[in-house]
Amino acid sequence: MAIEGKDDIYSGRIRLGMVGGGSGAFIGGVHRMVSRLDDHYTFVAGALSSTPEKALASGKELGLDPERTYGSYEEMAEKEAAREDGIEAVAIVTPNHMHFGPAKAFLEKGIHVICDKPVTSSLEEAKALKAIADKADALFILTHNYTGYPMIRQARAMIENGDLGDIRLIHAEYPQDWLTEPAERSGSKQAEWRTDPKRSGAGGAIGDIGTHALNLALFVSGAELESLAADLDSFVEGRQLDDNAHIMLRFKEKNGVTPKGMLWASQVAPGFENGLQIKICGTKGGIQWAQENPNYLWYTPFGEPKRLLSRNGPGALDASTRVSRIPAGHPEGYLEGFANIYTEAARAIKAFRDGKTADDVIYPTIEDGVIGLAFIEACVASSKADGKWVRLDV
Ligand SMILES: NC(=O)c1ccc[n+]([C@@H]2O[C@H](COP(=O)([O-])OP(=O)(O)OC[C@H]3O[C@@H](n4cnc5c(N)ncnc54)[C@H](O)[C@@H]3O)[C@@H](O)[C@H]2O)c1
Repeated sequence: MAIEGKDDIYSGRIRLGMVGGGSGAFIGGVHRMVSRLDDHYTFVAGALSSTPEKALASGKELGLDPERTYGSYEEMAEKEAAREDGIEAVAIVTPNHMHFGPAKAFLEKGIHVICDKPVTSSLEEAKALKAIADKADALFILTHNYTGYPMIRQARAMIENGDLGDIRLIHAEYPQDWLTEPAERSGSKQAEWRTDPKRSGAGGAIGDIGTHALNLALFVSGAELESLAADLDSFVEGRQLDDNAHIMLRFKEKNGVTPKGMLWASQVAPGFENGLQIKICGTKGGIQWAQENPNYLWYTPFGEPKRLLSRNGPGALDASTRVSRIPAGHPEGYLEGFANIYTEAARAIKAFRDGKTADDVIYPTIEDGVIGLAFIEACVASSKADGKWVRLDV
């Protein structure tokens, strides 16, 4: 949607707003950085904090136009939708319980939503949001950002090409250590809301990082999760939500094979920072990938020596080179992988402007969000029933 007299300012860039991400917040700043990496977005408006005073102060800090720094997301949705140069997309980077309201408000105004995970704080809300997103004249992008890494795209393409044969084993883990002690009682805002069921939802570690591990395993393997058996713990005394989860997984049968797997999510594992890893094995071979060394992918055709594939190196497929920026050996990392989701979204949004669909772009959507919440609620139900197998309600 070109705006007369403003093309020179925006150069076709997508006008982006943000809900959350005010002073002292974590992921909002990351969204702002990565949205700029490939020059597809201009950040022009925000409702950045939970109180109008903090929101206005945060807007000032970031150099936003005071007229476009709002005290609430409701006001922002109303006023931005009424402007000729209003935002075309909004990033939602608030705690989990504050995703549904803003996502609904902006989708209903035809503004694209780029929302962080987990998509909502309950499965009921996730399903309701899917119904709204399905009807909306706007796109919904969920930032399960690890799906943006080039070697993850490579692994997914290899599995699609049949290089691993039929998939049998799908293992994912995401251990961290930052909640080993009760950080929620010593002033960490990020720990406070994550351990509060009213703001986080029914899941602690399973919602915060387990959903990332599951999403990545499904994204790469192409498998569909059918049921699970979970053992959740809150090791820190007085903590209301899980801080460690061991989960067994059964996937839907494909070509006569029923893949099995395991998922470990922990925030009380000293020595592990962001230890997201996946291991996927099929009838013809296996792959292994670790987030802390994301430019490399181990590939083992059965019976042959292991091969270390590198981003943009020999054997790199178009699926990965398409989302790489620099030659092999120059590391790309978390920010570049995250930026790939923003860039894929930008291609889809720009195609949408022209009434087209960008068929070649890949990003997580509201469907992935619903699966994430169904996973959280199945884990809680299973663990309460002493590890009983529970089917996913998607
Ligand atoms: N994709 C990832 O890797 C990743 C990483 C971290 C967090 N997250 C997700 O991002 C979200 C935010 O996490 P965080 O760690 O940045 O939290 P945070 O506590 O650091 O930031 C939350 C921000 O939201 C603001 N906020 C709260 N209520 C608001 C409201 N009603 N209106 C406007 N702003 C409001 C707070 O003032 C704060 O600025 C969560 O859903 C989390 O799960 C995703």
